[in-house]
Amino acid sequence: MNNSILIIGATSDVARSCAYIYAQKQHNLVLAGRKPDELQVLAKDITIRYDVSCDYLKVDLMDIGSHTKAIDSLAEIPDTTLCFAGYLGNHELAIKDWREAERIIQTNYSGVVSFINLIANHYEAQGQGSIAVLSSVAGERGRQSNYLYGSAKAGLTAYLSGLRNRLASKGVHVVSVIPGFIDTRMTEGLDLPKPLTASPQQVATAVFKAVKKKKNVVYVLWMWRFIMLIIKLIPESIFKRLKL
Ligand SMILES: NC(=O)c1ccc[n+]([C@@H]2O[C@H](COP(=O)([O-])OP(=O)(O)OC[C@H]3O[C@@H](n4cnc5c(N)ncnc54)[C@H](OP(=O)(O)O)[C@@H]3O)[C@@H](O)[C@H]2O)c1
Repeated sequence: MNNSILIIGATSDVARSCAYIYAQKQHNLVLAGRKPDELQVLAKDITIRYDVSCDYLKVDLMDIGSHTKAIDSLAEIPDTTLCFAGYLGNHELAIKDWREAERIIQTNYSGVVSFINLIANHYEAQGQGSIAVLSSVAGERGRQSNYLYGSAKAGLTAYLSGLRNRLASKGVHVVSVIPGFIDTRMTEGLDLPKPLTASPQQVATAVFKAVKKKKNVVYVLWMWRFIMLIIKLIPESIFKRLKL
């Protein structure tokens, strides 16, 4: 075990919180994302505060052809990979403009799958490793207000379930993190119900514990598991008439 953590989407509010949790516990980090300048500042702050090694790696999930090269550029692949990348997008625009729909699908599904496939194959070969990926309750049932984002997350949730099933006997742990609302840049300006909204710190702590305890599926705030159970039980003949 090399005790280090690869964080994809490291500029996310939740990822930053998680990076600090791991650094505090003396794990070395590799911060991956699209903005090297921001990652460099974050990496420097973490190194100064916690005296751990913290590197950064340029990764654009939309640029699928670059993923192998990005991973190959690492001196050593960390034993734990956490993915916080995602893009809510503009649903109204996406139903009219394929470019926005593609960005939603690629950032939340195919880009993540491409990158995690490479990591998963490496972990399988070495017979160890942990993968945690943030999906969303939006993937549990399609709603008219965000079914493009929701369908990409639904695909991601199914992918993670299959990956866990494939790698469980190979010593590789895969956890699906399925949060409800989180108070972050992604939901800025939205009127979120407070009791159903987690803070980035709450989600980051849930990810840390889920990896440590080798959980399979985590909903972060417990009530979301029940809310989604009820939502999934609504008959389609009623559900299609709801303004959701
Ligand atoms: N906020 C919520 O209510 C909520 C609810 C359920 C699930 N989630 C999921 O939780 C995760 C974290 O979201 P958040 O709320 O912390 O959102 P956020 O602050 O907007 O973070 C999204 C992250 O994804 C990165 N990203 C976007 N496009 C990318 C690309 N092409 N390549 C690489 N990275 C890319 C962003 O990087 P840049 O800084 O470069 O844009 C950012 O680091 C996401 O998977 C999200 O879907 C969020």
